Amino acid sequence: MSQDQASAAALFTPLQLGAIDAKNRIFMAPLTRSRAKHDGDVPSATNARYYAQRAASGLIIAEATQISQQGKGYAYTPGIYTDAQIAGWKLVTDAVHAAGGKIVLQLWHVGRISHPSLQPGGQLPVAPSSVAFESKTYNDTGFVDCPTPRALRVDELPGIIEDFRTAAKNAIAAGFDGVEVHSANGYLLDQFLKDKSNTRTDEYGGSIENRVRFPLAVVAAVCEAIGSDRVGIRIAPETHFGDVGDSNPAALFEHYVDRLNALKLAFVHVIEGETGGSRELGGVDYVALRKRIATTYVANNGYTREMAIDAIAAGHVDAVAFGVPFLANPDLVERFRLGAELNKPDQATFYGGDEHGYTDYPTLELAAKS
Ligand code: PHB
Repeated sequence: MSQDQASAAALFTPLQLGAIDAKNRIFMAPLTRSRAKHDGDVPSATNARYYAQRAASGLIIAEATQISQQGKGYAYTPGIYTDAQIAGWKLVTDAVHAAGGKIVLQLWHVGRISHPSLQPGGQLPVAPSSVAFESKTYNDTGFVDCPTPRALRVDELPGIIEDFRTAAKNAIAAGFDGVEVHSANGYLLDQFLKDKSNTRTDEYGGSIENRVRFPLAVVAAVCEAIGSDRVGIRIAPETHFGDVGDSNPAALFEHYVDRLNALKLAFVHVIEGETGGSRELGGVDYVALRKRIATTYVANNGYTREMAIDAIAAGHVDAVAFGVPFLANPDLVERFRLGAELNKPDQATFYGGDEHGYTDYPTLELAAKS
C-alpha cells in the first residue's frame, strides 16, 4: 500500500450513526436531479439504478423530497406523501440495500421557493412572513418568478408538523434507514430560523428562541414518529442560498445545535460556508460548532479527498458528504481509495432529462475498457 493509500484509511473506518451503521465515511450528499416520473412525482427504476450505482457510499442521503404538495417548489422533484411515491421509493431502497448500501431520505418543505402552478389549488406558496424570494424557480414551462408568499397563520403550523411526521413514517415504510430533515438552503425551516426571511412578531419570530421554535417542533415530531436514532438534520448556518441571511448566524446556530442536542439525533449535517461556494465567510467557526454538537458531525461543501482525509484524521469531522463528485463518479469510493482521477461533471444534465448524465457516467473499470 502506498503512503497515500494508507492515509486514505481515515475515510474507511466504519461509523455508527444512531441506529445506522455506515461502512465508510464517504457519504453522498442530497442532490436535486429532477427525474421523478412527471405524473405524480414518483421515483422509478431509473432512480433506483442511479442510487444503487452509488451504494458503496457509507450513507446515501437521497435527494430533497417534498412532504406534501405544498412543500413542492420545482417541477419533477419526488414526493413521499402518496402510496405511489412510497412504492417508487421502495424500488430505490431495495436496489441500494441489495448492493450493500445504506440510504436515508431528505424531508423537504420549500416554503416560499415555489410558484402557484406547483401548489395545491394554484394558491400562493407559504412562508413565515410575506417576504419575497427575489428569484426564480422552474415549473414544466421553464423558469418562473416566485411570487411574494403568504405568511403562515399559527393555526396552520400543526398541519405542516403533521405532514413531516407522516412523511417520516412513509420513508420508513418505503424501506429507508432513516431520514434527514432539510433545515438548510433557504427552504421553509431555514426561512423560519433566519431573520431576513422571518419578520414575525408572534412566538415564532423575533428572538432566537422564537425563531427556532417551529424547526425544533418539526424535528421533535419526526423523532417521535420514527425514533431519534434514525433522524439527522441538515443545516447551513451562513448560506445565502435561497436569499436567506441572519444578522448573527453564530449565536443563532449555537443555540439551535444546543437545543438539537437534547433530541439525541443520529447526525447533524453541516454545509460549511456558502452552499456550493466559498467556505471562508468568517461568521461561524465550524470547529467550535462541531465541539458543541453532541452527535455525529457530517461535513459538506467543497471538500476534496485530501481535505476529507485531513479533517477526519484531525477529529474535526466524522464523515464528509460529497455532492457533485458523487454525481459524476458512481465509483467515487473506489476512486478515493486509489487516489484516482475523477470524471468531470456535466452541468447541462444536472436537472431533468433521462439517463444521460444520470446513470451513464463511467466507472474506472469501464473507462479502462473504452
Ligand atoms: C435545488 O433544487 O436546486 C436544491 C434543492 C435542495 C437544496 C439545494 C438546492 O438543498
